[in-house]
Amino acid sequence: MNWEPLVAAATAARDKSHSPYSHFAVGAAVLMEDGSVHAGCNVENRSFGLTVCAERTAIATAVGQGLRRPQAVAVVTDTDPPAAPCGACREVLAEFAEDLPVLLCNLQGDRRLIQLSELFPLPFKLPQ
Ligand code: THU
Repeated sequence: MNWEPLVAAATAARDKSHSPYSHFAVGAAVLMEDGSVHAGCNVENRSFGLTVCAERTAIATAVGQGLRRPQAVAVVTDTDPPAAPCGACREVLAEFAEDLPVLLCNLQGDRRLIQLSELFPLPFKLPQ
């Protein structure tokens, strides 16, 4: 697949990060079932526990548009190596996808492609 639109959207969203407390900016973008791309950044709060990660901002934006099936996710940080999504974000992605490719990126152009099923092999599931 062509990752460039997703990486570009995640990189642009990262520039919008509201991270005055950690100074750690994150951008994420999700490709949805209709081909649309939805991006988000981390949004911190002075009450630290209210902070929302970039990945969850991106998926919530897509879900709010009526989309439910993410096909791929890109995450951009300024770290070496590129950072992986936190546990909470893995759980939220798993709510909407059995599996999907996640591209971890940094500003130097390093990339690591990994499956959500590798990052999060045993999701919580409610009993049927
Ligand atoms: N952060 C994300 O946006 N995504 C993650 O998967 C991990 C952490 C944000 C939250 C906080 O604003 C900053 O990075 C430092 O933890």
